[in-house]
Amino acid sequence: MHSRVVATALLAALLTGCAHDGDAADGDMVVGGSPLEILHDPETCRSCHPKHVREWSASMHAYAAEDPVFAAMNRRGQEETGGELGDFCISCHAPMAVALGLTQDGLNLDEVPPKYEGVTCYFCHNVESVATEHDNPLKVPANNPLRLAHDKTMRGGVTDARRPGAHAVAYSPMHDGDLPASAQLCGPCHDIVTAAGVHLERTFQEWKDSVFSRTDGGSFNSCVGCHMPSRDDLIAETHEVAVTARRRGFHGHLMPGVDAALTPFPDHEAHLSAIECELAEAVQVTQMTVQPNGQVTLEIETSRTGHGWPSGSAQDRRAWVEVRAYDAAGRLRVSIGAIDNDKPLPRSDPQLFVMRDFIYGADGEEVHMFWDASPSAAYPAGYRSTTLPITLPSAQRGDVPPPHHVEAQFMTFMDPARVEVAIKIRPIGFDLVDDLIASGHLPQDTDLKSRIQTHTLNLTKMVWDRTTDSSRTVEVPAAEPLDCPNRWLCQLYPGRPGCGG
Ligand code: HEC
Ligand code: HEC
Ligand code: HEC
Ligand code: HEC
Ligand code: HEC
Repeated sequence: MHSRVVATALLAALLTGCAHDGDAADGDMVVGGSPLEILHDPETCRSCHPKHVREWSASMHAYAAEDPVFAAMNRRGQEETGGELGDFCISCHAPMAVALGLTQDGLNLDEVPPKYEGVTCYFCHNVESVATEHDNPLKVPANNPLRLAHDKTMRGGVTDARRPGAHAVAYSPMHDGDLPASAQLCGPCHDIVTAAGVHLERTFQEWKDSVFSRTDGGSFNSCVGCHMPSRDDLIAETHEVAVTARRRGFHGHLMPGVDAALTPFPDHEAHLSAIECELAEAVQVTQMTVQPNGQVTLEIETSRTGHGWPSGSAQDRRAWVEVRAYDAAGRLRVSIGAIDNDKPLPRSDPQLFVMRDFIYGADGEEVHMFWDASPSAAYPAGYRSTTLPITLPSAQRGDVPPPHHVEAQFMTFMDPARVEVAIKIRPIGFDLVDDLIASGHLPQDTDLKSRIQTHTLNLTKMVWDRTTDSSRTVEVPAAEPLDCPNRWLCQLYPGRPGCGG
């Protein structure tokens, strides 16, 4: 509330003549804090960049420090390591709070003003450079080595932005999604190397190894290119701009992935729709073959993810293939991975095809919490991964990138009449939530599990039916394609052209 009042006062100040010169406007901006403090607050941006703020506010970047699972895990990690974690976790989940010295360990988030929590506008748009010496055991860019200028300049990918009253502007290659340099803004915050030397999250590394980081074959695509698609929209909606408004490429700031808020959060439904859209892009079952002996073979393709799938927190995600085989009487005879959305994934089914990371301790035993992960003789990297692999660059320069197929096989029963398959993902395993409840770090009566969404990937739903499919192979998904991105854009902005009023 407080910050909204400030933003309104700021807007009023900016609309009263002195808005054309940044330095003159600074005098007015002292309302409620120093000019820098005002710029730190995402609410300040709302008056001129309402859509950026709306999308970001629903995003995981806004949620990063609010996440109750994050808070519980960080607290448990601090206890179990005797405080050695320090600002490790919070330096990515609330980087402004760390940069300004408001927290040392993320245990006092209740006292940190919300404007400093999460990955904020100011943090991304004030990044000036990235450290080149890496302070982690593997010496790779990870653990948020981004450096801020701590000035009033908002850096972006617009080469000729007009300077508004509120802030200075600067073009920055690190903020230009068309350039490889932009991966440096996202990547080093999306790779985690633990103190024990385990490369726990590897999204950036995977991207660098993939065809998408290559600039020589027409396959280049940055994190921004895929996660912040541009569209025709105004990038600033101030009075001063409206007079001579130029439409430019607006970059989406919702950045949907897999995770959704477990606490009440703005535009939750639109975010969930956007996740469904993103997941439909991620993975496709391109072929299902059913043999008379009951063997089911799937071709799974991941050529549209710029990294493995799932990537990032793959140790906490649960992604799997669901198979249901029926006899001629319509009875379900074999089911693999077919669980209700409120049930945990069975660990004992040898046919279960899971796509995730497993992490191990120094003794080679499986562990659940990342500060326990460690290289061992059995697992030298400290993890084992069954995630879907990246799309590799082709051997020959200029070749079309090879579509990446993975084969999955299942045995059902003799002569099935109907087989249904789909790929599902749950952002966080129930086993992990139970573990945090058992250790007292999440409340006993929490209904978090009922709020964790289990998604079915739209283009992985395949059905083979003996009576309608004369061949033993199916290549067409059973689901209609989703109307993306209209689906979630119209939920956010019902008035948009093409949204049917
Ligand atoms: C008083 C209105 C106003 C406020 C408040 C405001 N901006 Fe801006 N911003 C603008 C205008 C106008 C432009 C230039 C648009 C153009 O050239 O078409 C702009 C441009 C930008 C750019 C593009 C810079 C580039 O060169 O690529 C970024 C990034 C940006 N603003 C971020 C922010 C952030 C973050 C906040 C909140 C901390 C904020 N702005 C607050 C009006 C504002
Ligand atoms: C995770 C980093 C990140 C965060 C957080 C973020 N932005 Fe951006 N933003 C970018 C990048 C990257 C671009 C430029 C993409 C390009 O030009 O290729 C951008 C572009 C912009 C632009 C220029 C117009 C456009 O759409 O390209 C504005 C204005 C802007 N952001 C405002 C905001 C505001 C306001 C917030 C907070 C509500 C915010 N951003 C949060 C990364 C971020
Ligand atoms: C300061 C560190 C930081 C930077 C910089 C950063 N991110 Fe993130 N990002 C995070 C964190 C932390 C989360 C997860 C928050 C959570 O789920 O609690 C996240 C979440 C995401 C998600 C959603 C993942 C999911 O499973 O839902 C996407 C997509 C994403 N970031 C893309 C980007 C892109 C693209 C950029 C660069 C423009 C970027 N990030 C820059 C820290 C960062
Ligand atoms: C070629 C397009 C493409 C590129 C390039 C790309 N991504 Fe992704 N990314 C995707 C798709 C598609 C998904 C799947 C969405 C999902 O899993 O819900 C995804 C998922 C994610 C997620 C969710 C993690 C998960 O569990 O799967 C994060 C975080 C992420 N990307 C970050 C990044 C970062 C950081 C970069 C750059 C280093 C990057 N992406 C480059 C397409 C891309
Ligand atoms: C290098 C930056 C970085 C560090 C350090 C980091 N995180 Fe994250 N965290 C991320 C990013 C990025 C994501 C989103 C990844 C994705 O969606 O795949 C994330 C996601 C999460 C999530 C939500 C998804 C999940 O795994 O359930 C939790 C909880 C979390 N982190 C807890 C922690 C804790 C606890 C620590 C410290 C022990 C920590 N993080 C350290 C960047 C970081």
